[in-house]
Amino acid sequence: MSVMGSPAIYPHKTLIARSFGRAATAYDALAKLQGASALELIERLPDDLDAPWVLDLGAGTGRGAFALELALPGAKVVALDLAEGMMRHAFNQGLKTCLVGDAESLPLADGVFDVVFSNMAIQWCASPLDVFRESFRVLKPGGQMFFTTFGPQTLVELRDAWKDVDEAVHVNPFFSVADLNEAIEGAGFCGSEVFSRRHHLEYPDVMTLMRELKGIGASNQMPGRAGYLTGKGRFLKMMAAYPVIEGPLGPMILATFDVVIGSFYRPKSDCR
Ligand SMILES: C[S@@+](CC[C@H](N)C(=O)[O-])C[C@H]1O[C@@H](n2cnc3c(N)ncnc32)[C@H](O)[C@@H]1O
Repeated sequence: MSVMGSPAIYPHKTLIARSFGRAATAYDALAKLQGASALELIERLPDDLDAPWVLDLGAGTGRGAFALELALPGAKVVALDLAEGMMRHAFNQGLKTCLVGDAESLPLADGVFDVVFSNMAIQWCASPLDVFRESFRVLKPGGQMFFTTFGPQTLVELRDAWKDVDEAVHVNPFFSVADLNEAIEGAGFCGSEVFSRRHHLEYPDVMTLMRELKGIGASNQMPGRAGYLTGKGRFLKMMAAYPVIEGPLGPMILATFDVVIGSFYRPKSDCR
């Protein structure tokens, strides 16, 4: 495992790295949607994909990287993550090449990879344009990128419930398909296919949802977050504003997860 680059360019990145690092051992059991999404993205890889070198951006515990190694026999899969705790965990699980680094400023040479894969990590980055520019740079001409991320409707119920309480940022903002497409094109990629699909997950109550988000390290770490202002009274007010529905086993809540899926390639010359 190597620690390379300078992950802490922005102060909030240090918080993101710390939060995910702490979550490393509990993450896989809790992050079921992320796990299913990684497998779906791998299933979408073309059957004839020839990819000796694959980069997994924001690889987390390495579960996607292990699945990539199985799906692409012979491929060298390099896992990279901002959180040292995640990369240490992946390395201890047996993943050979784990780098600590920032997807927006990759500590990697130009034109090395055949595939850049990224499952549910780009939403944590400050600029999708920087992520895609860097991915373009490290891909070989003709190389392909496959990603998923969360879109703007993610946790819309939670965001709306907090709006009844105060103006602070309680849910991280997410990039729209239009933002992502603009960044993909701006980075120079061609053949972009980006679409989104909504999932409505059931939870017994808001506390269970909040505990899951905290458990996977995905609590709000953005500038402008509520921080210490989130006292018990505010929290109870937010819970009272969250819509409860009648489920087969009694009252429950729904949480929307807007999953954006995309693929494109670095052209050998210009896009045609
Ligand atoms: C929701 S987890 C997804 C992990 C994994 N890809 C999966 O499929 O389960 C998001 C990961 O992105 C990482 N991350 C956040 N910002 C990053 C950045 N700027 N560069 C690299 N990794 C980043 C986090 O540390 C975390 O491990």
